[in-house]
Amino acid sequence: MCGIVGYCGFRKAEEVIISSLKRLEYRGYDSWGLAVRDGNELKIFRSVGNIGSADFTGHFSGNMGIGHTRWATHGKPSEKNAHPHTDCTGKLAVVHNGIISNFQTLKEELSDRGHVFRSDTDTEVIAHLIEENYSGDLKTAVIRAIKRLNGSYAIVAIHSEGESLVACRYKSPLILGVGDEELIIASDVPALLDYTNRVVYLDDGDVIELKKDGYSIWNGKETTRSVESIPWSIEDAEKGGYEHFMLKEIHEAPGVIENNLAEYVPRDIELDVSFAEEVDAITVVACGTSYHAGLVGRYVFENLAQIPVRVEYASEFVYGSFLQRNSLVMGITQSGETADTLEAMKRAKKMGSKVLAITNVLGSSATRVADYVIYSRAGPEISVAATKSFIAQLVVLYLIAIELSSIPLSEKRKLIDELKMLPGTVQSIFQYESEIASLSEWISEYENMMYVGRGYGYPVALEGALKMKEISYIHAEGYPAGELKHGPFALLGERTPVIAILIPDDSYSIMLSNIKEMKARDSPVIALADENDTEVEKYVDRVIRIPSTRSILAPITYSIVLQLLAYYTAKARGCEIDRPRNLAKSVTVE
Ligand code: F6R
Repeated sequence: MCGIVGYCGFRKAEEVIISSLKRLEYRGYDSWGLAVRDGNELKIFRSVGNIGSADFTGHFSGNMGIGHTRWATHGKPSEKNAHPHTDCTGKLAVVHNGIISNFQTLKEELSDRGHVFRSDTDTEVIAHLIEENYSGDLKTAVIRAIKRLNGSYAIVAIHSEGESLVACRYKSPLILGVGDEELIIASDVPALLDYTNRVVYLDDGDVIELKKDGYSIWNGKETTRSVESIPWSIEDAEKGGYEHFMLKEIHEAPGVIENNLAEYVPRDIELDVSFAEEVDAITVVACGTSYHAGLVGRYVFENLAQIPVRVEYASEFVYGSFLQRNSLVMGITQSGETADTLEAMKRAKKMGSKVLAITNVLGSSATRVADYVIYSRAGPEISVAATKSFIAQLVVLYLIAIELSSIPLSEKRKLIDELKMLPGTVQSIFQYESEIASLSEWISEYENMMYVGRGYGYPVALEGALKMKEISYIHAEGYPAGELKHGPFALLGERTPVIAILIPDDSYSIMLSNIKEMKARDSPVIALADENDTEVEKYVDRVIRIPSTRSILAPITYSIVLQLLAYYTAKARGCEIDRPRNLAKSVTVE
């Protein structure tokens, strides 16, 4: 999704803006631009495509400016639709993330009053509205203008006559970085980290004015917000010698598991889930990979804690869902900013449920909506495809389920001990990496794939297929193995390889029968199987060995292998792995 940066300080604004926008490239964009106040003039540059090695030496020389990477929603990617957008005078420019849902009405109204529009975007109405309300004070003009906006926005505005930037947010993230004699405002933390790790998370409705000598926040009245420290360094958000962020992040899984265990199980579990002790049911709302984490959670909670769990796509939950009395709603969201998940969480609150956010991002919007928050400590995840953040979500879900479970203490301890062994187990997966890479070369020749599993293997299959399709562009479907014969069998054949998730539990023997059925339809079958499995080789074409762990924890090990399989397949197909086409890291529109 779009990225926003605004700078006010002593450095050359264009240098800070370009380097910070590059830090946001992972979010996905199709065009970009910046505006810098140079003397009493506003200089603007906009372009389609990537920032690449943009060099403005000698072109800009101001210390205050705004920048944007755009992911098209209203109007196709083009120079005229790229931000910043200006008003009629050309003295005012804005960058905007989000969607102005009433922009058409506003545009007609403004056109009737003589405003001339030069883009197809919803954003341009903001510039014209601010212009109408401007009489020398940008902050007042912004406050008046946003009263007319419906939808969601994070906006930064600059005026050639002013000494300040004015920014505001509503349902779209915006964070202020507080440096020494400099301020930087951005939509996401990595954009700030080169300059400061002291941040202020803005709330919905906040309007902030940034000047060289400080900032002030207004939300109906002058307001203060606390300054917090980001526990990440810029190195955490860099590739560290790996070819892609995705590979680095897959390899960070052992550390991520350790971090969560160190935080929540220093001795015994010290995760406060007292708020969930009396609940009769859990509903998970989430999207994409986080939804798959919720599906794994369903099996874990039902098996360990005997709590019924429903898992809903957040985007569907809003349509007339019913919540059982005394339900806990869990919003699982890595970014904490996914618009559909936030809406579902708000709806659950309105329906009287307590809401828990499981998120990776300190201070994100999900943490404000929720009654309770548990951080899944994965560190910054830059690659669009979620990998280590999924593993972190699973660890947190296991810990909550164990804590809520009434299994004997000795059994809980055994599970915790096994969780503690997982970092080592996951590390040993990487010894099979070259085998996985060579198998991926073979897979890369196909255009369709099927992933199947049962029980814990089913959400693993869904997640494996999602990872494959999003980064390699191979059409991959995940299915419960038992469902194939109810329709998808028609797709099997020698050009449709099947990835079978074989977990050594009570699903194992029926999975072998299902595999025989698939082989009988000529599909090549690749099994992911436990390293001690001596049977499987007789039934399938290829086997990827998975280091042994208890079946309930197998979603972690098996998923990491599938992440590697997707990565190497995408690499063999020459895909742009960290920024797949059409996708964005943080989906802040519904
Ligand atoms: C897939 C992926 C997406 C996200 C989804 C939800 O690799 O990353 O499917 O899982 O957009 O994002 P969060 O977890 O930030 O709510």
